[in-house]
Amino acid sequence: MSLQSRMSLPTAASPQSFIAREARFGAKNYAPLPVVLARGAGAHLFDTGGKRYIDMMSAYSAASFGHLHPRLVHAMKRQLDRLDVVSRAYHSDNLGPLCEELAGLAGLDCCLPMNTGAEAVETAIKAARRYGYERLSIPAGKAEIIVAAGNFHGRTTSIIGFSSEPSYRRGFGPFPPGFVSVPFGDAATLEAAISPLTAAVLVEPIQGEAGIVVPPGGYLASLRRICDRHGILLIFDEVQSGLGRAGRNFCFEHENAKPDGLIVGKALGGGLIPVSAFVARRAVMDVFDPGSHGSTFGGNPLAAAVAREAIHVLQDEDLALRSRVLGKTLLAALAGIDHPAIVEVRGKGLWAGVELDPARANTKEVCLAMLRRGVLTKETHETVIRFAPPLIIEEADLLAAVEIFHDALEEAVAPRAVSWVG
Ligand SMILES: Cc1ncc(COP(=O)(O)O)c(C=O)c1O
Repeated sequence: MSLQSRMSLPTAASPQSFIAREARFGAKNYAPLPVVLARGAGAHLFDTGGKRYIDMMSAYSAASFGHLHPRLVHAMKRQLDRLDVVSRAYHSDNLGPLCEELAGLAGLDCCLPMNTGAEAVETAIKAARRYGYERLSIPAGKAEIIVAAGNFHGRTTSIIGFSSEPSYRRGFGPFPPGFVSVPFGDAATLEAAISPLTAAVLVEPIQGEAGIVVPPGGYLASLRRICDRHGILLIFDEVQSGLGRAGRNFCFEHENAKPDGLIVGKALGGGLIPVSAFVARRAVMDVFDPGSHGSTFGGNPLAAAVAREAIHVLQDEDLALRSRVLGKTLLAALAGIDHPAIVEVRGKGLWAGVELDPARANTKEVCLAMLRRGVLTKETHETVIRFAPPLIIEEADLLAAVEIFHDALEEAVAPRAVSWVG
């Protein structure tokens, strides 16, 4: 880089300089709020100036157990004194225990660890297709998977190929065939879409990125019955809803709708490291044989050590129960706000979305106003403000964040718009 262009960047370690460097040297695939974070502890984040924020995002649930949870940090440090990455060319002494513990938590038989959520979704898609050919006699190359409109399962080219969001897809085709999209929450329409080519149904039990869209009660249980009736696989993507977020260890537990395959990620890495997994019944997992699938980092000793401790923390601290109890407080507090811009408050556990009327309030302005007042969140789908704090959050912080949201809403609908944080 020339001296000239280097000199045009702010040089001091100011927030502006970090933001300018991201803009100059990074990709523009996100539109972050104008805050530069430098430290985290529990349910709090701190910017480079030391200002404290209440975290209502939890890194899209990756930090569900809070930032730098001491037990998770300790587990990671302990592992770092022992063994790092060895690849799956060998056995290692955390992998089997992780698979046993995660499968046990889900009530399933076995587990295939990967790294990111999207990779675990890809793993599930491969498993479903092979199961379709080997066990359901679907003609080669014809297997279909039924998905729900409004889904978000990640960013690979096959996954965005069955997204209904134009901005995720534009300019990235061609996309692979083999996915049939039906409306979310409508079990009868889904059943009508099942054909002799259908291998599986793949849905999120609650659609997170679509705006914390909760399906009608009984939907998950209906899907279980439908898949049983047609002998096809039911796969839930609980990358975001899992590990306590929706008030149970897994969201499917609300309706006792155990799937044949379960996709887990985000919080499984304890907010420290990417860890995801496909968890399944043995007959489903056994479609994989040596060479058919893999990942250099998947299930590595460091990742497995952290993921095991994340599972232990979830259980020892009863975080699903905490999420269920505090979630009721959160929903009640949000529902108690009387404001004409609020169209709907919805959610489950410590996971709520507030739908705003775009004619009355701009969600980006609301998030900026919350940021100025010390609460971090981000809109989803233009019209929804999300509330997904770490599950360890104290009730006082939760209620303070809701109060600040109310104030921010008042400010954002007023005819003034400031977009910098002091
Ligand atoms: C339900 C769901 N599945 C999959 C993913 C993709 O996870 P990752 O970003 O780790 O690939 C996400 C991410 O938000 C998600 O919410």
